[in-house]
Amino acid sequence: MASVREPIAVIGTGYVGLVTAAGFAELGSEVWCVDIDAAKIARLERGEIPIYEPGLAESVAANRERLHFSTELAPALGHARLLFVAVGTPPTYSGDADLSAVNAVVDAMPRSNDHALVMKSTVPVGTGAAIRRSLAERGKEGFAYVSCPEFLKEGSALDDFRHPDRIVVGDDGDWAGDAVVELYSPLDAPLVRTDIASAEMIKLAANAFLATKISFINEIANVCEETGADVLEVARGMGLDQRIGTHFLKPGIGFGGSCFPKDVSALKQLAGNSGYHFQLLTSVIEVNELQKRRVIGKLQKHLGSLVGKRVTLLGLAFKANTDDMREASSLVLAARLQADGATVTAYDPVAETEARKLMVGVQFADSALESLADSDACVIVTEWPEFGELDWSAAAERMRGRLVIDGRNFVDPEAVRAAGFVYEGIGR
Ligand SMILES: NC(=O)c1ccc[n+]([C@@H]2O[C@H](COP(=O)([O-])OP(=O)(O)OC[C@H]3O[C@@H](n4cnc5c(N)ncnc54)[C@H](O)[C@@H]3O)[C@@H](O)[C@H]2O)c1
Repeated sequence: MASVREPIAVIGTGYVGLVTAAGFAELGSEVWCVDIDAAKIARLERGEIPIYEPGLAESVAANRERLHFSTELAPALGHARLLFVAVGTPPTYSGDADLSAVNAVVDAMPRSNDHALVMKSTVPVGTGAAIRRSLAERGKEGFAYVSCPEFLKEGSALDDFRHPDRIVVGDDGDWAGDAVVELYSPLDAPLVRTDIASAEMIKLAANAFLATKISFINEIANVCEETGADVLEVARGMGLDQRIGTHFLKPGIGFGGSCFPKDVSALKQLAGNSGYHFQLLTSVIEVNELQKRRVIGKLQKHLGSLVGKRVTLLGLAFKANTDDMREASSLVLAARLQADGATVTAYDPVAETEARKLMVGVQFADSALESLADSDACVIVTEWPEFGELDWSAAAERMRGRLVIDGRNFVDPEAVRAAGFVYEGIGR
């Protein structure tokens, strides 16, 4: 471990902030964490981890003496030059990014020639320039600014911190950019050192490309269903081409989560605000919205009207290994099913607490088998490992109907069919 590492501050202790804090504490830095959510800070001080992220609790516990939690900025400013900003940038109704939390952080900064804001939050291109202008207007031009976008994936976030594909640092070539590069130097990753606007665009473009790949393979899956091809074979055959690659060629019920939907929409809006109509992204979003609803069509194909039917959603989180429910496909699915007259039961091993805050009228169960009691159909929504080992004979005994719609192509179709079910995946 490095001898004396630069102390840092992290503002916002959500998925990105807490993982960044734990990661740099692992590398030897003292980390001052700040959040306006007093209850969250109190929990962190007690050693509780407010979110579900594999390995995070262990990492925070192991590096506890280097992690400091507060609702106050002053201790952070007193101890650290680099202030990593990891507050939320959710979508507004128009689809633009809501920068109010980022702006609140900027507004709280004092005059200083010794501090830098290091932007981890995903922001529209031009935000760094606007923040620098706004600081200068208030006599705070000495405050340095670095764009350091974050690429971690929920579910493997800490691992992604430790083994990043690349580090992107966008700056004006001053001390702060050098300090951020030095901070990341123990991690063996390619460095992209660039200007601030390009760093901001790298993040948005990367997410938009991944979302495009998902919508693309979902459309291929839909055509496979019409033509008798098996999309899993097709994706494998495509992905082995190194120019294409196997990642993100998994057809399913559409992308969700806190990043893809909002970042794709923010890039589309950004382009529109700059006078360019980003046609491709408009389609990527539309395909994704339609994909979430295709499950309803599959259910109707087998069950007819959904009025009075009982449908079980297995998994609610937007993907496995997280409790994050933001923009989860399950939300759209449950609402559509209820609107069509169905009763919805659900089970998620981790996300139930979050789901209860967002879902109305859904009946939650404590296990997969319990959630399937008297159900007419089972829909696999999230690829939680335990669903891959479900005892389908036991499921058949509890269920009223014999239909499994696998929204993730996750479970073994033969095992499901052997238990007497009709199995339908996506694009097969
Ligand atoms: N979650 C991801 O997978 C991911 C990946 C890459 C980038 N990002 C980006 O990182 C940013 C943070 O995302 P997240 O998922 O960690 O968000 P989050 O909602 O989990 O956490 C944000 C935290 O910031 C706190 N906060 C809000 N205003 C504050 C203020 N003025 N001062 C101090 N704390 C404040 C909130 O209380 C909350 O704890 C977003 O811009 C997001 O787009 C997220």
